[in-house]
Amino acid sequence: MQSAAVAHRHFLDGGAAASSFPLSHFKPTPSTASPFSVRMSLREDAPSLAVVGVTGAVGQEFLSVLSDRSFPYRSIKMLASKRSAGKKYTFEDNEYVVEELTADSFKDVDIALFSAGGSISKEFGPIAANCGSVVVDNSSAFRMDDGVPLVIPEVNPDAMAHIKLGSGKGALIANPNCSTIICLMAATPLHRRAKVLRMVVSTYQAASGAGAAAMEELELQTREVLEGKRPTCKIFKQQYAFNLFSHNAPVLPNGYNEEEMKLVKETRKIWNDKDIKVTATCIRVPVMRAHAESVNLQFASPLDENEARDILKKAPGVVVIDDRASNHFPTPLEVSNKDDVAVGRIRRDESQDGNYGLDIFVCGDQIRKGAALNAVQIAELLL
Ligand SMILES: NC(=O)c1ccc[n+]([C@@H]2O[C@H](COP(=O)([O-])OP(=O)(O)OC[C@H]3O[C@@H](n4cnc5c(N)ncnc54)[C@H](OP(=O)(O)O)[C@@H]3O)[C@@H](O)[C@H]2O)c1
Repeated sequence: MQSAAVAHRHFLDGGAAASSFPLSHFKPTPSTASPFSVRMSLREDAPSLAVVGVTGAVGQEFLSVLSDRSFPYRSIKMLASKRSAGKKYTFEDNEYVVEELTADSFKDVDIALFSAGGSISKEFGPIAANCGSVVVDNSSAFRMDDGVPLVIPEVNPDAMAHIKLGSGKGALIANPNCSTIICLMAATPLHRRAKVLRMVVSTYQAASGAGAAAMEELELQTREVLEGKRPTCKIFKQQYAFNLFSHNAPVLPNGYNEEEMKLVKETRKIWNDKDIKVTATCIRVPVMRAHAESVNLQFASPLDENEARDILKKAPGVVVIDDRASNHFPTPLEVSNKDDVAVGRIRRDESQDGNYGLDIFVCGDQIRKGAALNAVQIAELLL
């Protein structure tokens, strides 16, 4: 049986990651592309693509999402570090050889999907944009830059309306942080109805958020601990299996870590609201894949839990799992490999007067909607 840690590498291994949970709540995310632009994936009149960081957790998911959504392309360049050059991938029945990323990689590339870390994006993102590619970047390198749209297609597609494919001009578009995307997929429909004044977020973040090597380390440590051995700690400084700890992002002078401040700053940019009050505590939990978040919301106008539930049921990319009778609410396992963000535990915040506060619990596959799917949806908006 394929291990959970390596299940994401299905283009290398030839087997798709499987979920043992029923799919009944979930629906395929509708394509945001124009109707005539999809379905026949490999086409001469379609854009040329590059996937930067193709061997990584997000890079592999890019391939999966492109294929699932029949994203049209006339060619795909698969790029990674020198270490991976020469590796072979089969994608939609064609064999591709991974090339080393260099400054020459972007000639004739229309859309470049980047997921190779911030320093690679900083170095090669502008090179690609100068070559005329539209870069959709998964790192935090450009997210807060003025002039770089930070986009969740269901939330603020207009932020990138000025960027056109085929104009000869390259551009940078940033994919938000995975925790921000998952949180705002659920909070935005409620914000549109009742205006959020303050949001308190606590996260329970999976190994997959730290990349393929972290998933492998969690699996290895779990085995080692069960066998009574000392756990190998290479990616994280401390034992991860059977433990949890404050997010490994660097801690800033204000006591928040960088992951927490991303939630604060990115929410303000995406909602175009400098006054929105956001605070966050981000925790790494020994879950293989998919993040969970407890989100407390304070509103400017009253919003009762029944109306909130109805709004969320109708929200694109959101599924409600809120079964109090059987104590069934969203779990990371249930959303793994799914497109939708699941919301449950929808209840009035007893600490606030009237219907001005709600608590919700959100789970989303952060490699998928938190990274690859969101980026491909951004690319679809360009078609
Ligand atoms: N994991 C998530 O859920 C998630 C969510 C949102 C955003 N992101 C962001 O996406 C990026 C990648 O994350 P990941 O989780 O996929 O990490 P990962 O599994 O560690 O993969 C990293 C990728 O970057 C490539 N790379 C490293 N150094 C390179 C170089 N010098 N030149 C070219 N390629 C290089 C690696 O290629 P080799 O195999 O050749 O080393 C690999 O393909 C990060 O910026 C991360 O913050 C991740």
